[in-house]
Amino acid sequence: MRIFMDTANIEEIRRGAALGVVDGVTTNPSLLAREGVQYRDRVLEICAVVNGPISAECISTELEPLLAEARRIAAWHENVVVKVPMGEVGLQAIKQLASEGIKVNTTLIFSANQALLAAKAGAAYVSPFIGRLNDAGQDGMAVIRESVRIFDAFHLPTQVLAASVRGARDVTECALAGAHVATIPSAVLFQMIQHPLTDKGIEIFLRDAQKYSPV
Ligand code: E4P
Repeated sequence: MRIFMDTANIEEIRRGAALGVVDGVTTNPSLLAREGVQYRDRVLEICAVVNGPISAECISTELEPLLAEARRIAAWHENVVVKVPMGEVGLQAIKQLASEGIKVNTTLIFSANQALLAAKAGAAYVSPFIGRLNDAGQDGMAVIRESVRIFDAFHLPTQVLAASVRGARDVTECALAGAHVATIPSAVLFQMIQHPLTDKGIEIFLRDAQKYSPV
C-alpha cells in the first residue's frame, strides 16, 4: 500500500518525506485555508519535496469552468493529480479529462457505487472518506473493501485511495482491506512509528550496553 500525506503544511511534509516512506500528498481547500498561501505556490513547493502524485482540488461546479480549472491545475506540474468531487458534473468532467490524459482523483466518495461510476469514467483514483462515514454512523472500511473487490473483479485500473483517515488503526485496516493508497494526516503517520515497548526496549538495551565494552 502506498502512503500519501494528507496535509498542505510544508513543514509537516518535509518531516514526513525525510522518513523515506511517503509516496505522495493530498490537499484540499480546507487544508489550504489553514496555510494562508496561494494554492499553486504551495503545490509547487510540495512537488519539490515529494516526487510522487500530488492531489490539488478543483472548486468549480459547472462543467466548462471545471474543465478549464482542472486543465489549469494539471499544467502546474507533471506530478499533479486533479481532484474532482463526485457528482453528475464531476463524472462528465472525469470522462473528458481522462480522454485528455489528465489524472483525476475523485474526491468525496461515500459509496462503492460512486467509486464504480468514477472508475468507469476513467478516474485514476477514487477517495472514499472513511472517517466522515464512520462519524455518520456508517462503515467507512466497508466502502474500501467493496471498491477494492469490484475493481479487482472487473480489472479496473483505478486505485482506491483511502481518505479521511483518523487514526493509526485505520491505516492497518486499509492495508488489510487492500486499499492501493492511504492518505494520512501527519500526526497519524508519526503515531504509526511509535510503540511504548519499542521505547522501553531501547532503554533496556542502552542500559545493558553499559555493562560491556562494545569492541
Ligand atoms: C483527502 O483527500 C481528503 O480531502 C481528506 O482525507 C479529508 O479528510 P477529513 O475528512 O479529515 O477532512
